Amino acid sequence: MNAIRSKTPYGASTTSLSRTPPGVAADSAGPAGPGGQPPDEILPIRSGEQIVRLRRFLREKAEALGLSQIDQTKVVTAASELARNTLIYGGGGDVHFYTLQRNGRVGLRLDFVDNGPGIPDIPKALTDGFTSGKGLGLGLGGAKRLCDEFDIRSAPGEGTHISVTKWKPF
Ligand SMILES: Nc1ncnc2c1ncn2[C@@H]1O[C@H](COP(=O)(O)OP(=O)(O)O)[C@@H](O)[C@H]1O
Ligand SMILES: [Mg+2]
Repeated sequence: MNAIRSKTPYGASTTSLSRTPPGVAADSAGPAGPGGQPPDEILPIRSGEQIVRLRRFLREKAEALGLSQIDQTKVVTAASELARNTLIYGGGGDVHFYTLQRNGRVGLRLDFVDNGPGIPDIPKALTDGFTSGKGLGLGLGGAKRLCDEFDIRSAPGEGTHISVTKWKPF
């Protein structure tokens, strides 16, 4: 499995759960997130409409967390790019949403998970201007720059798992 800035591995699942009720244990909800934390929500990404829904959902959550307008826009933009990749290149998947609290700081994390063909060369895919399709090749690099933490794990035939985190500044 190729990885860039990989953290502690955890089991990824690409079951198309459309929603995880609060309080459901991580093992029944699919993947365990940061520190074994279950996702607050799992949203499907199987249509453009669901990307619009994700954008709205995220804007509300980011605002509720107290992120600035600019940071809200950054995280929504990053998520849109990653979600579009999940849909177009990954053949659809899920996004796992987490709210984070660490050392008195709040943040949000999004894990984009698909079971598609995977990315054979991650550094190449991250290079601005590279596209294997008809895009501008700015989505992955842009998402990385717009967020505070960025992890990508992918391999041919093993799908793609991309995680981004945005912290509210002190
Ligand atoms: N979820 C994914 N599954 C497979 N390949 C992906 C995925 N996301 C990105 N890629 C690969 O990385 C490349 C770069 O992605 P990106 O920077 O968003 O540019 P673009 O979407 O314009 O091609 C894509 O062209 C594709 O080859
Ligand atoms: Mg893209």
